Amino acid sequence: MLRSWWGSLICLFIFCDTAFGDLIKVDKNILEDASLNTPDLIRKYGYPAETHKIQAKDGFVLTAHRIPRPGGQPVLLVHGLGDSSVTFVILGPQRSLGYLLSDQGYDVWLLNTRGNRYSRKHKRYHRYQPQFWNFSFHELGMYDLPAAIDYVLARSKGFDQLHYVGHSQGTTSFFVMGSEKPAYMKKIKLMQALAPVVYWDYIDSPILLTFVKYLRPLVSFARTFGIYELPPENEVWRSLIQKICSFAFQNTCTYFIMEIMGVDYAQFNSTLIPLLTGHTPSGTSVKSLDHYGQQIHSGGFFKYNHYSTWENRRNHGADNPPQYKLTNVDCKVALYYGKNDRLASVKDVVRLRDILPNVVLDYLYPDPLYNHIIFILGKDVKTAINDRVIELMRKVDNGEV
Ligand SMILES: *[C@@H]1O[C@H](CO)[C@@H](O)[C@H](O)[C@H]1NC(C)=O
Ligand SMILES: *[C@@H]1O[C@H](CO)[C@@H](O)[C@H](O)[C@H]1NC(C)=O
Repeated sequence: MLRSWWGSLICLFIFCDTAFGDLIKVDKNILEDASLNTPDLIRKYGYPAETHKIQAKDGFVLTAHRIPRPGGQPVLLVHGLGDSSVTFVILGPQRSLGYLLSDQGYDVWLLNTRGNRYSRKHKRYHRYQPQFWNFSFHELGMYDLPAAIDYVLARSKGFDQLHYVGHSQGTTSFFVMGSEKPAYMKKIKLMQALAPVVYWDYIDSPILLTFVKYLRPLVSFARTFGIYELPPENEVWRSLIQKICSFAFQNTCTYFIMEIMGVDYAQFNSTLIPLLTGHTPSGTSVKSLDHYGQQIHSGGFFKYNHYSTWENRRNHGADNPPQYKLTNVDCKVALYYGKNDRLASVKDVVRLRDILPNVVLDYLYPDPLYNHIIFILGKDVKTAINDRVIELMRKVDNGEV
């Protein structure tokens, strides 16, 4: 009885989803792109691809993918939360930044930060141990980025600086590094921030805000049950989500993504759902979300607030976590942000801009609907964003900026 009820409900849901949307026919080529790992996807489109293992100081072993161009100016591209290296090649050679940079002669490095599907190795801990997942964007900035920068520069004869492009968490972690390890700013030729996330006073994502209200109890609950990864058993989850989103609930899945990121159907539509869900979510820690949650309406950009005062004292030397020192981030910085980005609102980015000492470009994209993932997945991302990113790199390379 119960089962048939559920069955009817699901059938009704599928019926509505398909009846009011497009009939779901998923392109074979898109399905193949969705199933390939980053290097295989790069090779499929005729570019060379390499895989590198980078050892971080605290024991993590990270994977970087590379579209090699020996002798070229190195560029390090860093993805967002729950994402992976694929994000900079996902739309193919016509549009994605990784290929466009390679075409221009840059040596392209695509990092996978700790805990995602490609970077799940640690010298001492196994991924089933809680210590493995004991990180947030703080550790990414303290260990992953410095390790990657040193590794790339050691393999780039004649270059003592690299270009950096980050999306979302790839910017948060960079600002942590700049605040805590300012010596690394000398190794950065230019940092370009796509949808930068630092302050979260004007975050406007109803789903996320509701979720975050219950974050502390949820995190405690998860810890009690030994859940430290998000979502747990990631590979299985991803393929399940992909099947559900690709073949039944394309419109529903699109709706949820839009609700979290900002609604913009002109730039992002359900055609991309099978591709996107084939690659994301790529895995991260519960603590990452917890640390982000703590920034909401906190009035600042703070280090992790531990669950006990003595732990705060031990880690921060104070009862409450201190703020990151953003004035230390003195390399050249370019900011790209959108008017409809629910995760990086204009006011929050402007506040960041006013604090950073060396902003060389402040670019608010004029389209009123531009949202958080359009910087990666937008239909016209090449002309809107990527061409500008490359043009600014050229100018900095030529000493014009
Ligand atoms: C996690 O790391 C913090 C330091 O950031 C430390 O105080 C804490 O004991 C660690 N917890 C686990 C479970 O390893
Ligand atoms: C979705 O976007 C793609 C291009 O990115 C386009 O070919 C397709 O027609 C669009 N579909 C709808 C329903 O708008």
